[in-house]
Amino acid sequence: MRRILITGASGFLGWNLARALSAGNEVWGTYHEHSIRIEGCRLEKADVSSEHDVTTLMEKASPEVVLHAAARIDVDLCEREREKASRVNTEGTQRIARLAAETGSRLIYFSTDMVFDGEKGMYTEEDAPRPINHYGETKLEGERGALAALPGAVIARLALMYGRGEGGYGSFLAWMLQRLKMGESVPLFVDQFRTPLYVGDVCLAVKKIIEDIHIKGIYHFAGPERVSRYEFGIRLAEMHEFSKRLLQPVRMRDLERLMPRPCDTSLDNRKAECEIGMRFNGIWEGLRAVEESGVIHI
Ligand SMILES: NC(=O)c1ccc[n+]([C@@H]2O[C@H](COP(=O)([O-])OP(=O)(O)OC[C@H]3O[C@@H](n4cnc5c(N)ncnc54)[C@H](OP(=O)(O)O)[C@@H]3O)[C@@H](O)[C@H]2O)c1
Repeated sequence: MRRILITGASGFLGWNLARALSAGNEVWGTYHEHSIRIEGCRLEKADVSSEHDVTTLMEKASPEVVLHAAARIDVDLCEREREKASRVNTEGTQRIARLAAETGSRLIYFSTDMVFDGEKGMYTEEDAPRPINHYGETKLEGERGALAALPGAVIARLALMYGRGEGGYGSFLAWMLQRLKMGESVPLFVDQFRTPLYVGDVCLAVKKIIEDIHIKGIYHFAGPERVSRYEFGIRLAEMHEFSKRLLQPVRMRDLERLMPRPCDTSLDNRKAECEIGMRFNGIWEGLRAVEESGVIHI
């Protein structure tokens, strides 16, 4: 039984973590604007950009482990509201790491494949990050702030995740399924490559890290297959027997109003597989696991 605090429990990843960890642990979770109920999880409203909120939360929860998933993740919004994004993603993370260091808590901070410029692909933990948008910059600064305050922190850089969600947050999978079910076309990038990651694998990797106090530093969590969003859509359509003609290939460079996104942020997961003992699911297995875990809320 461990006392675990999950920031951003009302979001896609946080909700999945809270559900996965609530059996056998005392789980605290936070929401910011979207109040939520999760069985077995004590929820508190908190803004990570507020010193008062985070201090009060850490005093109340007194966690052994902090899983920091709260963030502003909309790439275009982060570009338009740069200061706000920095306050939440960078300063919020620095604050949480500092308070975790003061209370002697372990910290796992969830970062992103978007810390890379996308020129090379299949990035390892040794590759130098070079974000090309503000979202990536704020997350990279968050990584640096977390490690400066708490050198034993774990930085889990996540690839594009898919899985089941709750409330307002599903993954992009829910959006694709909804359109396909309605017979609507689904515009999908053919020129952006990722290594899609089943959210259940993130929960399992986190459980393993919590059990092993020797794990620290940067890890890439990613599925084993490098595909475009369009190719991912093909797999999904095949699995659910939707017409592939509904999938509409689009190129990022043809969309004028889109903020910059890296082309190939695929991640090499071998360090996490070797040191954490993970075996990340491929797309077919991951999609099947989503099906078996119940209905996707759309
Ligand atoms: N989704 C992906 O494919 C992906 C890929 C790579 C990395 N990541 C990383 O994984 C983490 C979780 O992502 P996600 O997909 O779960 O995001 P999400 O669904 O958008 O959830 C974001 C969470 O952050 C909370 N939040 C936003 N602003 C806040 C603030 N000022 N104070 C406190 N909480 C705040 C939200 O709370 P309310 O909704 O209650 O306001 C929500 O719980 C993020 O750090 C992200 O960078 C995600």
